Amino acid sequence: MKKRILTGDRPSGRLHLGHYIGSLQNRIKLQDVYEQYVMIADVQALTDNFENPKKITTNVFEVAMDYLSVGIDPSQSTILIQSQIPEIGELTVYYLNLVTLGRLERNPTVKAEIQQKDYTDSIPAGFFCYPVSQAADITIFQAEVVPVGDDQVPMIEQTNEIVRRFNRIYNTQCLKECKPFLSKTPRLIGIDGKFKASKSLGNAIFLSDSKEEIKAKVFQMYTDPHHIKISDPGSTEGNAVFIYLDAFHPDKQEVENLKEHYKRGGLGDTTIKSILNQVLQDLLEPIREKREKINFAEVQEILYQGTEKAHQLAKTTMEMVREAIGIKYFNKK
Ligand code: TRP
Repeated sequence: MKKRILTGDRPSGRLHLGHYIGSLQNRIKLQDVYEQYVMIADVQALTDNFENPKKITTNVFEVAMDYLSVGIDPSQSTILIQSQIPEIGELTVYYLNLVTLGRLERNPTVKAEIQQKDYTDSIPAGFFCYPVSQAADITIFQAEVVPVGDDQVPMIEQTNEIVRRFNRIYNTQCLKECKPFLSKTPRLIGIDGKFKASKSLGNAIFLSDSKEEIKAKVFQMYTDPHHIKISDPGSTEGNAVFIYLDAFHPDKQEVENLKEHYKRGGLGDTTIKSILNQVLQDLLEPIREKREKINFAEVQEILYQGTEKAHQLAKTTMEMVREAIGIKYFNKK
């Protein structure tokens, strides 16, 4: 029996190179070894986009196309849409009883997001509680391993606390604890050299960007502001072009040689950007071509089948949960 894993993304935009090295590449490998469920977390995305549902609903399909175009294989991975499984919402309601506001307040990831979004004075309750809903996402599929970035570790901890409390209070073993599976690659910075590549900052290269968009973004990239003349010695630290070369150039020795040359002086920004452009074009061209061949009906069918399969599993878990609490009034199904 393969162990089950669950990963997910909020469909608030198309996926970019940061997702590719941080999680998508991993998923392509993990689907061979594990029974992989990949959730498009539209309900979670709505917690901070509830005024703009169209953005989320259209991106459900964009994200699914991104998955398929990088090689997440629907015959090996179950791709599902969160909102279409109402049992997740139901389970969340029972979990909310097992969590205190104080505990939610201490979640460092949510804390940081509240700051970023300027919610400090009026936090939407749905947003504040999304870690509880995420605990339901994970446990309803009885996932044992959750591949995530380090910002998601607090969610896993909170999930396991809920699981232990539930199992203790209702004297059951029906819920499983899970482990994070941390991606080894550090977070990819934006093309502007800022901390994180993200769609909201407009500093990301998307998997579906055209040839021209990729090139324009590469040539806009932040390098070393003190590297003015080609002959000047340059710094590769915090230099977005070198960080991307480290992440995506297939020949590590070549990158080391380029770094040496750049630090010594005599290697121009235009040259390193041309090299990076070629590396990224080679990486993204087959992905883009695959994406262009996928038609809408096909994606819709894949999502439908995946969601149906996941729904059956969610129903089974929910039966056990209701039974454990004792919420069972009728003998009929
Ligand atoms: N919170 C995750 C993120 O922002 C997305 C997500 C939702 C998720 N549900 C999940 C990740 C369940 C792993 C498991 O990226």
